[in-house]
Amino acid sequence: MPVPSVLVCEDYADLSRTAADLVAERLAQKPALNLLAATGNTPMGLYAELVSRRDALDVSRVRVFQLDEYAGVGIEDRRSLLGWLVRSFTAPLGIPEDRIVRLDTAIEPAAACAAFEETLREAGGFDLAILGIGSNGHLGFNEPPSDAGAPTREVTLSAQSVETSAGYWGDAEVPTRALTVGMRELLASREIVLLASGAPKRAIVRRALGGAVTPEVPASFLQEAKRVTAVLDRAAWCGEDEA
Ligand code: F6R
Repeated sequence: MPVPSVLVCEDYADLSRTAADLVAERLAQKPALNLLAATGNTPMGLYAELVSRRDALDVSRVRVFQLDEYAGVGIEDRRSLLGWLVRSFTAPLGIPEDRIVRLDTAIEPAAACAAFEETLREAGGFDLAILGIGSNGHLGFNEPPSDAGAPTREVTLSAQSVETSAGYWGDAEVPTRALTVGMRELLASREIVLLASGAPKRAIVRRALGGAVTPEVPASFLQEAKRVTAVLDRAAWCGEDEA
């Protein structure tokens, strides 16, 4: 069985540079990369790092796939995860919006998820997925319990995810429903980079990478995925000797 590789970085800045090196290398190897990109706080340093290297990167053929979005929330809404992705990553990197495959919140959720999956199939699947991890072990909004076959779908957010989301948007009302790329599609990615930073993530990183593989910790299915690299800072890493 494949085992996730773990890169332990000195701190968040080092983590962001290390992850950017990896993404830049994959882009150089395959400019028409199908890239799944998370939002949340953790990948923001990576995105900023890539933006700072903009002149050295050819992003003209990359396709960026959105990982998740609150139900009914359009890009113009300040809570939109797509809006966050565009502001922090695709726009400053010069990737036009027509190169972004989105979870369309303007149509019926099941139809939006089916359309996303169809576009993904036609594109040949994800080459690289950039993921963060929720403190409850979620990937995207695949909340526990989510099994490895869970498709792209509409979900109810856990209380924990609602709380984390509230932290992103201050006093904004947080929707309780969302669309997420499914475990099935994530785990089929040809490569996955999992980012985690800070001591609050340490316990869940340990369970995800070294604990039982269970729907109760959706990220634990990464232990069975193809080519997974966890890029962590020291604070988020708890090695055998530190248990
Ligand atoms: C965001 C997402 C979430 C986050 C996770 C970690 O698009 O899908 O799964 O990756 O909640 O969030 P941060 O990075 O803010 O700790």
